[in-house]
Amino acid sequence: MSHEGACFLVPGPVRMAQNCLDAMATPTITARGPEYRDVMARLNSGLRCAFNISPSKPEKKTGSWAGEDDYKVIAVSGSGTAAMEMVLANRFRPNDRILVPTNGKFGERVAQMISRFAIVKHLEYEWGRAFDLGEIEEQLARGNWEGMAICHNETSTGITQDAVEIAEMCGRHGVSLILDAITSVGGLPVHPAEWNVEAVVVGAQKCTAGPSGIAAIAVNQKFIDRCKAIRLQGDSNPNYYLDILPALKKGEDDQTPWTPAINLAMGWAAALENLKNEGLESRWSRCAMMANGVRNLFTDLGFELLADEYSRSDTVTAIMYPEGIDDSWRTRLNEEYQTQVIGAQDHLKGKMFRVGSMGETPLDEMVEGCKRMILCFNDMGCDLPNLEVDPYFV
Ligand SMILES: Cc1ncc(COP(=O)(O)O)c(C=O)c1O
Repeated sequence: MSHEGACFLVPGPVRMAQNCLDAMATPTITARGPEYRDVMARLNSGLRCAFNISPSKPEKKTGSWAGEDDYKVIAVSGSGTAAMEMVLANRFRPNDRILVPTNGKFGERVAQMISRFAIVKHLEYEWGRAFDLGEIEEQLARGNWEGMAICHNETSTGITQDAVEIAEMCGRHGVSLILDAITSVGGLPVHPAEWNVEAVVVGAQKCTAGPSGIAAIAVNQKFIDRCKAIRLQGDSNPNYYLDILPALKKGEDDQTPWTPAINLAMGWAAALENLKNEGLESRWSRCAMMANGVRNLFTDLGFELLADEYSRSDTVTAIMYPEGIDDSWRTRLNEEYQTQVIGAQDHLKGKMFRVGSMGETPLDEMVEGCKRMILCFNDMGCDLPNLEVDPYFV
């Protein structure tokens, strides 16, 4: 079956399914009544599936935010950045030392954000290069680290960090690990319990195909205990809206401390039901199949990929423009071929484009989008080899 109409292949916000849109077009309900508790229970249960932690029932008064492991999920009204701020501001004290390796824009933002709440040691790697795990090990071995925070899937450069190795090192050195998993949760393998991650952050608009402006965290008991202890010691960073303690108090009752983003929560709960129905691992596989096809196709066409070979992400691919092409290609692709991909950030602006392979994007749309990208490169005078696109996506 071929795809007709526009192709929307950006690494978030992604297209929302009709049931998600319909769920948001619901008349107002109160934030404190049983109807909203039903919404929260469905949302919490769906989030536990996306986070790949133990399940809970999508029913109010059953402790839907918790499961059989020691993780709890908390929905945050705000985008992924707000959820990340909730984690960092509450978990660390101003004198804590945090190691932050980065290889792209979003990792750098993690470092920047932590600098407001704690002391950061920023290990800055070139955009697109994998972390030097030897250097990280060396740093960790020097001791005295309270935590390490990474952007697990670096959307700006198309890199997935080696979380298994990093988690093993953090575990060995007794260092708390925090993941910005905003473009990995729901799109590629994340194993919070196995990796013993203290906090994982996701944004709705990425791999879970929910609406923009709502996010969530999954935190383990150690994280919760630490936040409480810091508050008791009177040594916490200032915060109010993002204070985790009231959120923890209300969570048990399928509630939030402040007025929640009610309609966004309804939409996200529906999108997470789609994820549950597809199956988490099936979604990971579909994203991987799309990304693998894009990587192989564009490599065979002679393009250079930004990310180091063994670090390439399955939810976003960063592809360098050939000589003589810039972002005017993207404008033409959108105007003449109704196909959207995204550009680059900062110093790579105009030098590459990024293709998202996340959310509910069907394989056919990716295949059709790639065909149109090739046509558009041809229109702009690129002499590309004549390749059949479909076989790259089976
Ligand atoms: C990896 C990563 N972290 C953080 C963010 C920021 O998230 P938000 O825009 O939802 O605040 C993004 C957004 O693209 C991202 O891709």
